[in-house]
Amino acid sequence: MTRIALLGATGSIGRQALEIISAHPELELVAAASGSQPIDGLAPVTQVGGDLTELLERSQPEVVLNAVVGFAGLPATLWALEHGVTLALANKESLVAAGELALDAQQRGAGLLLPVDSEHSAAFQCLEGRSAEQVHSLVLTGSGGPFRGRTRDELEDATPEEALAHPTWRMGPKITVDSATLANKGLELIEAHFLFGLPYEQIEVVLQPTSVVHALVRFRDGASLAHLGYPDMRVPISFALTYPERAATPVESLDFSQGLMLEFEPPDLETFPLLGLARRAGEQGGTYPCAFNAANEVAVAAFLEGRLPFLGIAATVDEVLAEVDGSPARDLEELVEADREARRLAERAAV
Ligand SMILES: NC(=O)c1ccc[n+]([C@@H]2O[C@H](COP(=O)([O-])OP(=O)(O)OC[C@H]3O[C@@H](n4cnc5c(N)ncnc54)[C@H](OP(=O)(O)O)[C@@H]3O)[C@@H](O)[C@H]2O)c1
Repeated sequence: MTRIALLGATGSIGRQALEIISAHPELELVAAASGSQPIDGLAPVTQVGGDLTELLERSQPEVVLNAVVGFAGLPATLWALEHGVTLALANKESLVAAGELALDAQQRGAGLLLPVDSEHSAAFQCLEGRSAEQVHSLVLTGSGGPFRGRTRDELEDATPEEALAHPTWRMGPKITVDSATLANKGLELIEAHFLFGLPYEQIEVVLQPTSVVHALVRFRDGASLAHLGYPDMRVPISFALTYPERAATPVESLDFSQGLMLEFEPPDLETFPLLGLARRAGEQGGTYPCAFNAANEVAVAAFLEGRLPFLGIAATVDEVLAEVDGSPARDLEELVEADREARRLAERAAV
């Protein structure tokens, strides 16, 4: 039996994880948490909001599936890494904001960090067992979101409803907007840097509109390995929860009987500047990725509340990144302070 704590149990990832857990008798849900929705009776130990590390201390899981959205997931990420408890990580924001602190904690805890983000789960599988010097580069794929092919002028009046209509994935609202702005690929770029220890110049983003190819790794001998499958988060969730067994899921394998076209195109960095801003924040290092994430969270919330136009999301993040000092955080306290300052600046900019 594997004892699992599921954080973010009421969300898109959380609900799909519950499906996977209930289909596998060897997976035991010992604890569950949400932000505000009631979850009484879902697991022996439950918690709504508050400090999620208290729930983890009480339930002593073997695997933490962190599917909380946003910076709020950070204490749980650090707890799992510090305690050497396997971390199945959907909450990319925590690794983006606190990459160095998280890797230090992982080194001390010496536990497993298994990505749940589909691209990173795919890359993890392509890379597994291969040494870093064999790798030429990693290619993260993206659908391009609902606004792929649009110009900046056409996005002036883009509404939350339009941004939330993702062509290939059904996800929570924050990541769906991030997919529409390409901030999600930016967060994933930084996430991949920390997960796989690759420099930014060895990580590329390419659009693949049907979301069938989840990632590719190019090797030094000219070969590339790709991970393919229909877009369904139950696959990477199941992969992480049953690692290294790769248990069966109800998801169908690829069907070639009707043919299968795979098209790739470069992202439009002018129309979607958040991808370039994320790359620069990642390259600058320090607390720039933390500030990128914080400003983006504030701007997305303002957009969803109708207080900020779609193009204002990138403008807000740009403004905040130009203002923060970005110096590295020596501890969690300094990181939380950098996050708070970026949020304060973003609230001021997002008007
Ligand atoms: N959805 C996907 O397909 C997908 C794919 C790849 C990666 N991810 C990543 O997975 C994470 C979750 O995404 P999602 O789409 O599942 O989001 P979502 O549907 O919005 O769900 C978010 C979950 O987090 C909980 N939560 C929010 N704030 C919290 C807090 N302060 N403390 C405890 N719990 C809190 C929510 O609880 P309440 O319901 O009570 O508010 C909910 O259970 C994000 O980091 C996202 O980037 C998602």
